[in-house]
Amino acid sequence: MKKLTVRSKRSKVALLLVSSIVAIIILIVFLRTGFFDQQPESLMVLPNPVYLDERKSTEERVADLLSYMTLEEKIGQMALVEKDSLQKIEDIREYHLGALLSGSGSKPKDNTVEGWRMMIDRFQTEAKSTRLQIPLFYGSDAIHGHAHVPDATVFPHAIGLGATSNARLVKSIGEATASELRATGVNWNFAPNLDQPQDIRWGRVYEAFSDDPELVSKLSVAYLEGLQTKKRGEDSYVLGTAKHFLGLGTMGWGTSLNKNFKIDQGVTPADEALLRSRYLPPYAEIIDAGALSIMVGLNTWGEKRMVLQKELLTDVVKGELGFKGFLVSDWYGVHEGRNDIFMATVEAINAGVDMVMLPFDYQTFTEHMLLANRLGLISDERINDAVSRILYVKFEAGLFDEEKVGTKTNFSSPEHTALAQTAVAESLVLLKNEQDILPLSPNLPLIRVAGSAADNIGKQMGAWSIEWQGVDGNWVKGTSILSGIKDNVGPNTKVEFNELGNFSQTSRKASMGIAVVGEKPYAEGWGDKEYPTLNETDLQAIKNLQAHSEKVVVVIVSGRPLLIKNEIDRWEGLVAAWLPGSEGASVADVLFGNRPFVGTLPVPWPRHSEQLPISLDEKTADGTAVLFPRYYGRTTE
Ligand code: BGC
Repeated sequence: MKKLTVRSKRSKVALLLVSSIVAIIILIVFLRTGFFDQQPESLMVLPNPVYLDERKSTEERVADLLSYMTLEEKIGQMALVEKDSLQKIEDIREYHLGALLSGSGSKPKDNTVEGWRMMIDRFQTEAKSTRLQIPLFYGSDAIHGHAHVPDATVFPHAIGLGATSNARLVKSIGEATASELRATGVNWNFAPNLDQPQDIRWGRVYEAFSDDPELVSKLSVAYLEGLQTKKRGEDSYVLGTAKHFLGLGTMGWGTSLNKNFKIDQGVTPADEALLRSRYLPPYAEIIDAGALSIMVGLNTWGEKRMVLQKELLTDVVKGELGFKGFLVSDWYGVHEGRNDIFMATVEAINAGVDMVMLPFDYQTFTEHMLLANRLGLISDERINDAVSRILYVKFEAGLFDEEKVGTKTNFSSPEHTALAQTAVAESLVLLKNEQDILPLSPNLPLIRVAGSAADNIGKQMGAWSIEWQGVDGNWVKGTSILSGIKDNVGPNTKVEFNELGNFSQTSRKASMGIAVVGEKPYAEGWGDKEYPTLNETDLQAIKNLQAHSEKVVVVIVSGRPLLIKNEIDRWEGLVAAWLPGSEGASVADVLFGNRPFVGTLPVPWPRHSEQLPISLDEKTADGTAVLFPRYYGRTTE
């Protein structure tokens, strides 16, 4: 008993001693890191500071502006916040926020050009009312035109542009998209996409141009140049984003960290040699072409999420490739799957992420960054580097020198519509043409049309249109494929349409049936699908149509090649139309020979799912031959 008392007294003294030493150490650390220091008073801006002088070099302007900034002001520049997360508009000023975004589907109440402009102007006015008047980047996913606005020109999704292989056309699309974005005040686009999809089960195949790095480089550079072209009379351009760095397109089935998904946000199995030889070259090329923002993907490589890959982000991109812009993380990408969001922030910033797409909780981010800096976990140098990069891009993009955004640009002009129509026509891939049934004669007496995608503009636009997961129906601006069929035929041709192919039993067979079938819109992991096939309703519609027509041409509207090996032999003609966007009628221009078929497959078309994934040299997983190889496409030129 006694012994015990002596022991417990001794251990109490020891405990006291240890805790005092720990407390003294913590105090010293806090004192040395300036934890108790007062933040410097807001500095008054000098009259005519160097950074507002357009004649100075960007480097001089950045250094000058940085020298005035408090830590809080710097941290604000590193946050990217979804506009609906703002608790009040004054938070832009209070938190010195540097960038906002509209996540896909997030729009102003008045979803018009004017509605967007007024909303973004208010945000900009708030940002510019701070003492340093730093303008905002306002980002959006205009990945196939400014498609969240109902009146926008909606271009084919990237996979369709890959099928055109036409860099000049893609550059013009970049320019037109920039013009529509600037008309609404958006100055940052989260495109082009440099992913290389090798597995059609992935829900993001259509966002990419191709699985061939050469085609990806060619088209993404062209698109970026289009976006970032300064126009006469305009001081600024729309900043492009090369995404998603790195190795997206090869993630394994069932590896997703998101419990709802299978491939998206999964693990990239490539070794470093493959990452470098296949995935890195498009980034090297686009950086040389002027890319100033790169989005870090939500995938994992080896044991680590991409946001934590310091060697790739800092050593390779910023070091080896000489990237002078900033790295932005993807949606919640820094914090996804982490319990300790403080350390998640610390690790990602130290790995090289410069701007964090939070996208919600900027208050906690600010607190965490302040604490991490005071504890010496994130150095001043790292913060200064990140902020200098962001400011560099703001100066280069012309944000400080512009008077008013977008006043001179076109929204949805006849030129943009014509461009989209050309893109649709060039994107079509003719896969089967038995007895040269295509192009169709416009003078056939009776043509029957069936299928769920024939008269549905929402479906032909795919996702990232008005809403993240797309919309259904014909209430948005555009033309349906059916309307194009009707426009293309002569006065003596009758066109009958029934979505399910239910035509009258008694009437004669049509000389031609056109089945326009396809996928319902989907975005990201929600489109991961083990067996991407046509749905039963569309398959039945084709059968019904065949019962009422001599021959049938099938047009597939989809974000990826579909598994059709069991059906294709029964069809006389087959066309891959991808996701053509708002100008669906142009599909019919090619069916009826007013324009030729010139498109080729931007990705191999597999025969069955055991072939997935398919390698760059088109080796399938089970060693069998694909249904159609990459770059296959018949022409009617
Ligand atoms: C996607 C990105 C997109 C971002 C912002 C993420 O979910 O992965 O491609 O740019 O959201 O909307």
